[in-house]
Amino acid sequence: MKKDFISIADYSRDEIEAIFELTGELKAKVKKGETHHILPGRTMAMIFAKPSARTRVSFETGMYQLGGYALYLSPNDIGIGKREAVKDIARVISRYNDVIMARLFAHSHMEELAEYATVPVINGLTDYNHPCQIMADIYTVKEHKGRHTDLKITYIGDGNNIANSWINLAAKLPLHLVICSPSGYEPDPSTLDYARAQGISNIEITPEPVEAVKGADVIYTDVWASMGQEEEAAERRKIFMPYQVNSALMAHADKDALVMHCLPAHRGDEITDEVIDGPQSIVFDEAENRMHVQKAIIATLMRNR
Ligand code: CP
Ligand code: NVA
Repeated sequence: MKKDFISIADYSRDEIEAIFELTGELKAKVKKGETHHILPGRTMAMIFAKPSARTRVSFETGMYQLGGYALYLSPNDIGIGKREAVKDIARVISRYNDVIMARLFAHSHMEELAEYATVPVINGLTDYNHPCQIMADIYTVKEHKGRHTDLKITYIGDGNNIANSWINLAAKLPLHLVICSPSGYEPDPSTLDYARAQGISNIEITPEPVEAVKGADVIYTDVWASMGQEEEAAERRKIFMPYQVNSALMAHADKDALVMHCLPAHRGDEITDEVIDGPQSIVFDEAENRMHVQKAIIATLMRNR
């Protein structure tokens, strides 16, 4: 049976910990300059329906470092769900490639891709979630704080794909997760219900940024208008401005609180230059770890195949 990586909700805590252990091993090899061709001759198709810098570069480079090859299919190439049915693409690509990574709009398309592909499918972001990002994020927190549980993680901004994946993580690892969003922009309610029902984490939803950052170990933000919401950007800017992560807000946080952002950042909107470039920011360590964690995810899915 093939396994996909579509949501953190599909993984047990033990499986998540195993991915992190392998991440550490693979990252150490990169740092020592040791070749680690554990997937020689294997190929990955990368299907992008939206733009990307980190996801494309980290997956493509990571696959090469593993001894394989990744091919990039741009939004103009496949037209998934438009030029061709999702299930047909899933079946065709499975005949050529050993693993598929996709960045799509509809999460239902990701699920359909996984259902019909006969090779593992990795979710590189949908409108609903971004599991590889949050795996890399918590791994980065662990590197900086020495632990990845029992921390107060405050996410400030839109209750979007990033927020939903944080909630899915909190269903697996014990955290105090605070999602601070303006009214009407809260994260997915069924994801929240599911995570709370696991009884593992304390998950709060609040519209009050000053309260939310107090005592936080991590302050995390993301764009106010995600890919596909460009026409809402001006209206959202007005609504979200009180949620900007700036020096005034950071004055209410602990001095050693880490600042994170999945990037790309809209500097001057959700985060100011002095905060993202400041001493508490770990955004580039976070970006780097995308590659190390994703290599571990690929290797895990390809094991025994
Ligand atoms: N964080 C992230 O996924 O970046 P890209 O959109 O550039 O891939
Ligand atoms: N919420 C953002 C994340 C980008 C990595 C988006 O979907 O555009």
